[in-house]
Amino acid sequence: MAIDVTLIPGDGIGPEITAAAVKVLEATGLEWNFDHQLGGMAAVAEGGDPMPAATLASIHRTKLALKGPLTTPVGSGFRSVNVALRKEFQLFANVRPAKTIIPGRRFDHVDIVMVRENLEGLYIGQERWVEVDGDPHGRAESVAVITRTGAERIVRYAFEYAVLHRRKKVTLVHKANILKNTSGLFLDVGREVAAEYADRIECNDLIVDNCAMQLVMRPETFDVVVTTNLFGDILSDEISGLVGGLGLAPGGNIGVDGGIFEAVHGSAPDIAGQGIANPSSLILASAMLCDHIGEDDAAAKIRRAITATIVADEVATRDLGGTASTREFGDAVAHRVA
Ligand code: NAI
Ligand code: MG
Repeated sequence: MAIDVTLIPGDGIGPEITAAAVKVLEATGLEWNFDHQLGGMAAVAEGGDPMPAATLASIHRTKLALKGPLTTPVGSGFRSVNVALRKEFQLFANVRPAKTIIPGRRFDHVDIVMVRENLEGLYIGQERWVEVDGDPHGRAESVAVITRTGAERIVRYAFEYAVLHRRKKVTLVHKANILKNTSGLFLDVGREVAAEYADRIECNDLIVDNCAMQLVMRPETFDVVVTTNLFGDILSDEISGLVGGLGLAPGGNIGVDGGIFEAVHGSAPDIAGQGIANPSSLILASAMLCDHIGEDDAAAKIRRAITATIVADEVATRDLGGTASTREFGDAVAHRVA
């Protein structure tokens, strides 16, 4: 039976890299039924709404989406599409793996999966101004929310991920020494959950600033990392930098009602339409999509093909020092997959 996936090509380089990812998914031999839907500026141009009801309805039906980057329209009147999607589908986990693909660069043995809480923390948007001595902007406040339910859900997700993907260790990252309630609750709940997995998965915890340093000094000592929203936002960019940056960084937003897979990078308007974007991030996100639906063989094939194309075939796009176009690179990966 064909696998239903909502396909949102998105803006800028989105259509170019999405075409490459689709070609690679089709080369796996699995049968796909792509439901093409609009999002971002492409959707605004069509009907005035960056996240049309038809696109949401499609994801509600398929519970699975591959999404190109969306340009966030600047100015008022448009809600953030990514925030809207996270809320609509309760995408509580943001999963970003970073694995060394090209040896001999900065770090050779990086294989880290960042699991970031996606719905709570400081990102709930509860900020306010408080007047001080007649200055209406004399003081700014932001509310961070950690719930027992939310913390347990994300930490459990990280441990289940570790079990499923035969990982050995989960690191809880926090700032409980200072943020005694919020980060303290996250750490307490995290340790409770860890105890349930003690026979299978090793667990340690690190204070976030120390973690940031250890990631650069000893990245090979990390395996799965789980943390709250803001820390995860910052540390996931740090780990993508350890393995070569945006061209090789996939991400999955996973929740109760579905999974949306995308590249970490944006729509790259500076190179859009030139056929030179690196589609690897979205292709690796496609591999995560395969993992998500239990198609482990297809996922492994795709990852092996990316490595073989770049390392053995020496086919690479400009950002990685090569000369291949988006299409040539995508075709080369698809050829390796098939
Ligand atoms: P960006 O990630 O689009 O680009 C940053 C730099 O990296 C640019 O120089 C770009 O050419 C390069 N780059 C990015 N992806 C590349 C690829 N696959 N191959 C080769 N080079 C690549 O970040 P920027 O310029 O800050 O954002 C552009 C737009 O994308 C904004 O409207 C932003 O809101 C949106 N965006 C959307 C995201 C999403 O939909 N998930 C995530 C991040 C940004
Ligand atoms: Mg970020």
